[in-house]
Amino acid sequence: MSMQIFQAPGRIIFGCGSVNSVGEECAKYGTTALVVTGKSSAAKTGMLDKVSASLKESGVLPVLFAEVEQDPSVSTVNKGVTFAREKGCDVIVALGGGSPLDAAKAISLLLTNKGEIQDYEGFKPHKHGMPLIAIPTTAGTASEVTRFTVITDTERKLKMLVGGDGIIPKAALLDPELTLTMPAGVTAATGMDALTHAIEAYISRRAMPLTDIHAIKAIELIGGNLIKAVTDPENIIAREAMLLGQLHAGFAFSNSSVALVHSMSRPLGANFSIPHGKANAMLLPAVMDYNRLACPEKLKDVASALGENTDGLSPREGAVVGVESLFEIFSETGLPATLAEYGVTENDLEALAEDAIASGSTANNPRKPILSDVISIYSSILGS
Ligand SMILES: [Fe+2]
Repeated sequence: MSMQIFQAPGRIIFGCGSVNSVGEECAKYGTTALVVTGKSSAAKTGMLDKVSASLKESGVLPVLFAEVEQDPSVSTVNKGVTFAREKGCDVIVALGGGSPLDAAKAISLLLTNKGEIQDYEGFKPHKHGMPLIAIPTTAGTASEVTRFTVITDTERKLKMLVGGDGIIPKAALLDPELTLTMPAGVTAATGMDALTHAIEAYISRRAMPLTDIHAIKAIELIGGNLIKAVTDPENIIAREAMLLGQLHAGFAFSNSSVALVHSMSRPLGANFSIPHGKANAMLLPAVMDYNRLACPEKLKDVASALGENTDGLSPREGAVVGVESLFEIFSETGLPATLAEYGVTENDLEALAEDAIASGSTANNPRKPILSDVISIYSSILGS
């Protein structure tokens, strides 16, 4: 057996109150921090005040860049780079969901490397970006520990994956209290994204024993706590489990990669602005139903990790239970269930499927799809 494992370097601080370490962490790298965040929620919920207070206490000047939209664009990244240069920033804090974290990673890269973010699409050589401290406020992307960022190129209508060791944050501060104010819809969508990471990492052709351990743990934690967090937002135990679960999922998919669900959700985001988590949520049960024939043993394991009783079942029977369980969890989230709700029509499916087939993640899928397979999976969630 041969394995190559990437482990997030730097420091991971997990637990209630860990956000208060941001000043101390930043002071190791600089004195002026670009604080990258979304347009309003970090300020509204008081998180930004906590970050600013901690920075000031450690002698670091916060400079706010609260401009990141959902699915950050190339132009937002460029704006952030220019702003950071103008203000003389020497360290970056990313505060928010996947979008601010991804934007901050791209900004960090361009502050120490020449050219545009498009030049680094895929895995291109680069120098390490400006030191970045990442503080997630959702339990989903695990962007705080991965070496990927997704930036939307609005001209090419494409979600670009940029990857490499140079964009890994120096430290990740995971504070479950920051996730308590997440609305139910965001909790559901980001949690389903994390569940997708875990399951895709487990069934991926690149799965390894070390990633399997993280993937299964993630499925257990997320499967057991997602609906609790959606229906009882103040449940700190469930919030903590979700944040830990998405972290395990991050370790897993950083190494074994995601698969067809992500290939199919990216074009939905780029062309119809369907939020990443909502697109994955809709696709996850349908794609796993398609994958069932190729990896029944693994989907039986998924069923048990989700808490289903699979005693005495054959792999095929167990996989059916696993897929049914995913359909059930998805319906309990209350998330939109059809592509039609986002304006997708029958005529759009072929172009979407072509994009999905071309995605690098497709090669990791246990069942190799042809165009008509992908069209029929999209079709199964089209609705009317
Ligand atoms: Fe994802």
